[in-house]
Amino acid sequence: MSGQVFKLNDGREMPAIGLGSWKSKPSEVYDAVITAIKAGHIDTAFVYGNEKEVGQAIKDSGIPRNELFITTKLWNTCHRPELVKPALEVSLANLQLDYLDLYLMHWPVSFQPSDVKQPRDADGRILLDDTDFTVTYAAMEELVGEKVRTIGVSNFSIENFEKLSKTQKIPPAVNQIEIHPFLPQFELVKYCQEHNILVTAYSPLGSSDSPLMKDATIIEIAKKNNATPAQILISWGIKRGYSVVPKSVTPSRIISNFHNVKLDDDDFSAVNKLIEGKEQHRLGDPYYSWDVDVFGLH
Ligand SMILES: NC(=O)c1ccc[n+]([C@@H]2O[C@H](COP(=O)([O-])OP(=O)(O)OC[C@H]3O[C@@H](n4cnc5c(N)ncnc54)[C@H](OP(=O)(O)O)[C@@H]3O)[C@@H](O)[C@H]2O)c1
Repeated sequence: MSGQVFKLNDGREMPAIGLGSWKSKPSEVYDAVITAIKAGHIDTAFVYGNEKEVGQAIKDSGIPRNELFITTKLWNTCHRPELVKPALEVSLANLQLDYLDLYLMHWPVSFQPSDVKQPRDADGRILLDDTDFTVTYAAMEELVGEKVRTIGVSNFSIENFEKLSKTQKIPPAVNQIEIHPFLPQFELVKYCQEHNILVTAYSPLGSSDSPLMKDATIIEIAKKNNATPAQILISWGIKRGYSVVPKSVTPSRIISNFHNVKLDDDDFSAVNKLIEGKEQHRLGDPYYSWDVDVFGLH
């Protein structure tokens, strides 16, 4: 691993910047991983459908396993406790790995077991399961050891953490959540930091066709720092004290995204203030596709 790292609550280290791979097509992700792998940190998920290609690239890179930090995620159809370990085994086989550095519960939402990723009834409604996420998390705790170094969660709210804290034996090390200047998540980031849970920002650039890339303030700060808008968005997150997983399949972008720019206090505060007077803009809310109010907004 090269570059800045953050300490997890179990003493392990996670590189500050990782390669995201959601929507990276299987045909594109191999080259993306090969380009990014020297930096050491790759973020994937069973549901992205590209673990096999990610794993092949990891293998072909020849980089020693202990120099890498690989994260994947447990999908919603595998939340029943007896399905958690088999789901891990599938991901490990896909990735051709003996162990994961980090295994995340992708969502605090359980679907009925299924071969399809989003099982639905004849009317198109998602088939939810009544397995509580605390039960799923308890099964994930059993995995920690030889095959999973560290466990964490994703898309968790403060309420979810408060509930989980009553049953957890191993505190989650990471919460991977959507964060960018139009959704800075000040309260949730503060809560996680106070509870020693490392935040990882997903969609840190604002995902595809992001208005942040055209934002006048971001462009001005980028020019001042001789940097790209993406580098400013990534570096802002790192300066806030959390890791960031920008996705790209474009080699030149991947390389430049791994360069952390040291933002001065004025630039940092200008990015913090971008949201002032504006509505927060959440890119992903499964309420509309799953009819589940994960973020308590509806
Ligand atoms: N836990 C979860 O529920 C969850 C949800 C969403 C995402 N994630 C993770 O977070 C990662 C990142 O989020 P994301 O994929 O939504 O969005 P993102 O990283 O904010 O943005 C990705 C988009 O930005 C473009 N891009 C990348 N670098 C750029 C640069 N230097 N200049 C201009 N454009 C650039 C990419 O295009 P090209 O690829 O064409 O270069 C792509 O269209 C995901 O890939 C995934 O690993 C997790």
